[in-house]
Amino acid sequence: MEHIQFFSDKSSVSKEKIAEYKEKANQCISALHEGTGKGNDFLGWLHLPSSIDETQFAEIENTAKLLQDSCEVVVVIGIGGSYLGAKAVIDALSNSLDWLQKVRKSPIIVYAGHNISEDYLFELQEFLKDKKFGIISISKSGTTTEPALAFRLLKTQLEEQQGKAQAQKLIIAITDRSKGALRKLAEQEGYKTFVIEDNIGGRYSVLTPVGLLPIATAGFDIRQLVAGAAFMESYCGVETPFEKNLAAQYAVVRNELYQQKGKKIEILVNFHPKLHYVSEWWKQLYGESEGKDHKGIFPAAVDFTTDLHSMGQWIQEGERSIFETVISIKKPNHLKTVPFDTENLDGLNYLAGKRVDEVNKMAELGTMIAHVDGDVPNLKVEMPKLNEYYLGELLYFFEKACGISGYLLGVNPFDQPGVEAYKKNMFALLEKPGFEKETKAIMEKLK
Ligand code: PA5
Repeated sequence: MEHIQFFSDKSSVSKEKIAEYKEKANQCISALHEGTGKGNDFLGWLHLPSSIDETQFAEIENTAKLLQDSCEVVVVIGIGGSYLGAKAVIDALSNSLDWLQKVRKSPIIVYAGHNISEDYLFELQEFLKDKKFGIISISKSGTTTEPALAFRLLKTQLEEQQGKAQAQKLIIAITDRSKGALRKLAEQEGYKTFVIEDNIGGRYSVLTPVGLLPIATAGFDIRQLVAGAAFMESYCGVETPFEKNLAAQYAVVRNELYQQKGKKIEILVNFHPKLHYVSEWWKQLYGESEGKDHKGIFPAAVDFTTDLHSMGQWIQEGERSIFETVISIKKPNHLKTVPFDTENLDGLNYLAGKRVDEVNKMAELGTMIAHVDGDVPNLKVEMPKLNEYYLGELLYFFEKACGISGYLLGVNPFDQPGVEAYKKNMFALLEKPGFEKETKAIMEKLK
């Protein structure tokens, strides 16, 4: 069976250079596995794939079935790590025009609580007006403003449309075991709940019910997703030699490029628009994990070939502070060949009979050669196919590499103290009770 592979551009970081990191990388891996590194109280994700049991799968699948049987639309409420993993997987596996499908096996999944836009919430509520809908409300802390605000609006709407008793059945809460407003509310209202364990941070939670329940509700095979992740868990495990450990290799190459070659920005590249949100998930994972202590690669992303016509110029000839990591899919799921045209007015007959993917792959190869020639080092993560299993491999690969990479950089990859700064100011400006001192201080600043 094929698996995900990682390739790095030898002209930018040599094999010998990578080998020099062996001891350091192995120390980082041991620190993760022995729980002796920074943020060691947030390592619950490390053995998560291999530890999910039949009872947990069944509970998630039964809840998904209930939502599928009763809802045309399910609203997933959450922000950051509480929605990006689910959206990444659902978008990657869904038909590109999913929302236009008339005949559906599963509810349409829409998202809320990931912004505070009044227009977004108005338009969502208008859309839901004549729909049978349910809610999966996700917040680990149970106190985040964006999802709490969206939940207040949508809970009220659901109760008005379907009655309180039915709404109670169609709201699922995923939150802390005992703390937070969402836990309190869920217990008072009698909602079905799932727990996010204390030792798993939001951005590492895609393989908990946070990601698995929305993904199962959208009709995808969570067992395959977890099986792929479990394979990668052992494939990149503590016993895997450094030379064969894909996660360690990726972590090392990106740190070498950042720390020794001045490549401060990593651009995650895809050649399939379905992967757009995989990049968004990856950006959060690496941005929140490494961007601290005034250090960290800036994670950016582009969708090619689309963005070759917007960002291509900058990437080819702008400041030489970037490198790329390309997610490449070996085989597409569908077949489409270029037709022959007798008139050939568009001059495309030289492509007649070729698969569209062959054209895409030549664009991918041509871009890689051009960018390497232009001093943009290229790394590649190759997936055999786009399906649940390989997405599971991909998610775990990036999670494990992120932990190793954060330790190589010398930061705590599992906290996010910087996220609090905007919240404090927002609460002060909104005059939230308990923030009186901050309100006074910020008003002074604004004078
Ligand atoms: O990765 C993280 O920890 C964050 O992005 C959180 O997921 C995000 O801030 C949402 O937090 P919560 O789930 O507590 O509402």
